[in-house]
This record gives sequence, structure tokens and C-alpha cells, in this order.
Amino acid sequence: MDSKISQREQWTSKLGFILAAVGSAVGLGNLWGFAYRASQGGGAAFVLLYVLIVLIVCLPVFVAELALGKNAMASSLLAPVKLGGTNWSPLGVLFFLAPIGILSYYSVIMGWAADTFFHSLLFGLPKDLSEAKEFFGSVSSGSSVLLGHSLSLVLTALIVSSGVKRGIEKITKSFMPILFIILFMLTIWAGSLSGAWEGYQTFLFKFDFDQLKNPTTIRNAFSQAFFSLSLGIGIMVAYGSYLSKKSNLPKLSFGVASLDTLVGLMAGLITFPIFLTFGLSDSISDSTIGALFISIPTGLGSAGILGRIVAIAFFGLVYIAAITSSVSLLEVPVSSLMDKFRFDRNKSVWLVAIFVFILGIPSALDTNTLGTFDSVCNILLIFGGFLVTFFMGWVVPKKLDSEIDVSKVGVKTARYLKFMTKWICPPLIAFGFLISLFDLLKGWLS
Ligand code: PHE
Repeated sequence: MDSKISQREQWTSKLGFILAAVGSAVGLGNLWGFAYRASQGGGAAFVLLYVLIVLIVCLPVFVAELALGKNAMASSLLAPVKLGGTNWSPLGVLFFLAPIGILSYYSVIMGWAADTFFHSLLFGLPKDLSEAKEFFGSVSSGSSVLLGHSLSLVLTALIVSSGVKRGIEKITKSFMPILFIILFMLTIWAGSLSGAWEGYQTFLFKFDFDQLKNPTTIRNAFSQAFFSLSLGIGIMVAYGSYLSKKSNLPKLSFGVASLDTLVGLMAGLITFPIFLTFGLSDSISDSTIGALFISIPTGLGSAGILGRIVAIAFFGLVYIAAITSSVSLLEVPVSSLMDKFRFDRNKSVWLVAIFVFILGIPSALDTNTLGTFDSVCNILLIFGGFLVTFFMGWVVPKKLDSEIDVSKVGVKTARYLKFMTKWICPPLIAFGFLISLFDLLKGWLS
């Protein structure tokens, strides 16, 4: 055991952790999911619900996951058992399997992004919507989709096989600043478009109170919050286990959650002006999983050379954001195998990667299957969030206490977090989970 602890890697600095965690959080969920879900109905009501869920529910979940990993100093598979006994092994198994499930289709979407990026760079953009649809059809089928899926996995695997410090931390440290610069420039550019104001209104101010009661909007907001913050499936348990003893978990969680939400909002401030400037509002309402890959190139296609440059920057940004997330998804099962079976890192990485590749083939070949995978995994995240807060709030509350350092965060914050973790999060997340589950089943049965 002791030898395992001494072998455990640690982030080189607080900044290293923050960038890795923000890297995990900021991804396709922000750039693709946020706009896609906000446009699926909900609009500003969705955004409001999302922000509320992040503040009220997700922050305590974030702290709880980090505390679980940091206290157990073990992988996500073993941490629940280590603190709570063998009864809690199903939670570890959930943490092991869910990231594998997500990564299996996440890398497919990364392949679409890479394809769109290279196409914009080398050949230009589609002339109109029908050409864009045709292009997306070719990107999301046949051998190119399998190539994109496999190359994205190989890239992810190469980074993870270099380790926590030399792989994940290093890559996120160099990629995140680039990501923020591109994002910032694109937000300013989108603000200069003629449809910018209309776009902002649709995204942020078109408030329909009825949407607050719409189960699909509630499900979208819950899913988006958990997915976007990488919560509920053990990512932050793994990342927390590489933290140093003296870390201030609430402060770190707040920092990461704020940056992630900021990026989600900025992504909306980029995509909505594009949709509305280039007359793509219709494609918003019949928004599908491929929306981003159809509407954005179509819109930018009518904006000449500048549009093309923006498309290259945008899809480059999407890919950078996605790779810093995919490494976190792979790290969880990999570190779990290393912990459980004493495999070395390389062996674990390639074993998991091959398995993920095979599991992802059905999603690669059919976007509906991908959508189903995404819906199921999103529900698992919410369920995982429920279990984590129940576990830390009720089963091992002392461990949570010991990880919230009162001298650093103050008595009030510490009390607030413990109260939320115990009394508010479990019932509220259970409510979100049940609504989401019913809404999903209703969709399937109708
Ligand atoms: N948070 C990432 C995103 O927004 C995806 C992700 C989900 C990563 C769950 C890890 C765990 O794209």
C-alpha cells in the first residue's frame, strides 16, 4: 500500500491541476453541447437552469469527488471501496465504465471536428446548406469516420501513456492558453456580426417561463451541467487523487466551474450570432447532433476568406478543447487498471484504447446510435453525482469534513458545503435523475 502511495504521481502545481481540470471540463460539451441544447428548446430558460444547477448542485458534487479521490489516494475504481467498504464497489465500477462509454463516442465526434478542420483548411467551406449536409454525411460515415475515431484515440492514448505530469499536465498547460486566446478572438469577431444582437437575445434573453417546467429542458440542463463539468463519473476523483495534501478543494472547484461556465457562455456568444447573421435560425430549431458541423460551416461559407479563417480557428479550437477532455476520460479507466491489476501504464492505456475503439464503432457508423449512447451516458453522470454526494454526505461524512479545511475556507463555506452535500444535493439530483430518466424513456417509447 505504502509503495502505491509513494508511486502515485502528483500535479506539479496548483495551476497544473486547474488547467488539467479546466481542460477536462471544457470540451465538446461546451462548444457543441451548450449551443445544441440551448437551441433545442429552452433558450434563456435553459441557460438559467444550467447556471443554477452548477451553483447549487454541481459545486458540492465537485468538492465531494475531489475529496473522495484525495482522501482515498486511489483510482476511481478503488476509492469508494477504500473509504466505504466492498458494498460500494458498484460505484467504483460505474466510475470505471462510464468514461469508457463516453470516450467511445466522444472520439467519434472528435473525428468529425478534425475532418471539418482539415476540409476548411485545405478545400474551403460548403456553398450552401445542402452541400454542408452532404459534407457532414461524408464526414460521419464510411472510412473517414473510422479513421477520425481511431486517430483521435491514438492521440489521446499517446498523451495518457506519458503519465499525469509529463502527459496530461504538460499538454493542458500548453493547450489551454491557446484555447482561451482563440475563444476570445472568436467572441469579439462574432460580436461584430450584423446578427450579433439578435443572436444574444435568442441565446440569453428570450425567456419562456414554460420551459422551466419542460422535462426535456430540465433534463438538458442537468445533463449539460454534469457533462460539461466532467462530474459524476470519477474524473475528479482521479484528478483529486493527484492533488497535494494541502489543496483548498472548494476554491479549486469554484475556479474550475467558473471558467467552464464562462467558456460555455462564450461558445453561445459565438455560435448564436453566426446562426442568426447567416439566416440559419431554422437549422437551430431542427437542431440535431450534427448541428455544429453543418450550420457553422454553412454560415461561415458565405463570409468569404475571413469566414474560412474563422472556421479553421473554430474547429481547431473544438479539437484542442476535446483532446484535453478525452485524456481525462481515458485516464480514469487506465489508472483504475493500474491500481487494481498492477498493470503498467502503457499496457493499461492500449488495452482500454482498443476496447474503446471497438465499442465506438456502432456510434461511428450511425449518428442515431451515437445520440443514444450520449443520452444514456448523460443519465449515468447524473446518477453518479447522486451516489457521490450520498456517499460523501451520509456514508463517510468525516472524510468529507477532513478534506474541507476550515482554516482556509472559513466556517461558513465549510458548513454550507457539508449541508448541501448531505441535505440538498442527494434529493435534488435524485429529482433531476428521475425527470431525465422519464423524459428519455418517453422519447424512446413515442
Ligand atoms: N466535460 C467534457 C466536455 O464538456 C466532457 C467530459 C464529460 C469529460 C465527462 C469527462 C467526463 O466536453
